[in-house]
Amino acid sequence: MQNTDIMVIAIDGHSSCGKSTVAKELAKKLHIAYVDTGAMYRSVTLYALRNGFIKDGQCDVPALENAFDNIKITFDFNAETGTNCTFLNGENVESEIRGLEVSSNVSMISAIPQVRHRLVDWQRQMGKEKSLVMDGRDIGTVVFPDAQIKIFMTASDEVRAQRRYDELKGKGQEASYEEVLFNVRERDRIDSTRAESPLRKADDAVLLDNSNMTREEQFQWILDLIDTKTKK
Ligand code: DC
Repeated sequence: MQNTDIMVIAIDGHSSCGKSTVAKELAKKLHIAYVDTGAMYRSVTLYALRNGFIKDGQCDVPALENAFDNIKITFDFNAETGTNCTFLNGENVESEIRGLEVSSNVSMISAIPQVRHRLVDWQRQMGKEKSLVMDGRDIGTVVFPDAQIKIFMTASDEVRAQRRYDELKGKGQEASYEEVLFNVRERDRIDSTRAESPLRKADDAVLLDNSNMTREEQFQWILDLIDTKTKK
């Protein structure tokens, strides 16, 4: 049962539609914590790659399960600047987990039930401790089905691929637009069709398609929604 003084804002949606940008802005504005659950799945994927648990696109699940207790994921969210860093066992992996190698394997890792159960437990624990905005794929459906605010974000495939491509380029990482578009579509397909907690909009989530919205319009739209919901 959740403490009623604690506010949970759940943001789910397709990959690369700007969930984390909006979530960070909200956390900064509302002075609450931000948890990027995609970064958690990405960090587990990086750990599995580094330890040789992934071969030919398949994971040695028992080996990864055995190693779970050696995986510690922490965040350092700076509410002043709105920047967030992900640490895997104390190492800042924020940049590495966004690269194509991790991106190409993360949907496979996040479809493994044992991985999901472990990460969902950690995520629920965080929501018991403090108000937060959490983004991912199953936050409003599985992690916090009782969240006060639930938003399901999306945008067209092409708009999302262009945004991810620009982001990678901006960081000096190599990738072609076609490769990124393929990765975006492939991740949506795997995320939406997996047996365990597939990506879907919770019945009581509010849909936000931001294909033709500016960042400012979108942010105002969400603030208005929170205002309406919390006044009820
Ligand atoms: O949000 P992102 O693109 O960084 O997420 C990376 C992958 O992790 C994505 O392909 C799906 C998976 N994921 C998930 O299955 N459940 C979550 N709550 C968050 C992410």
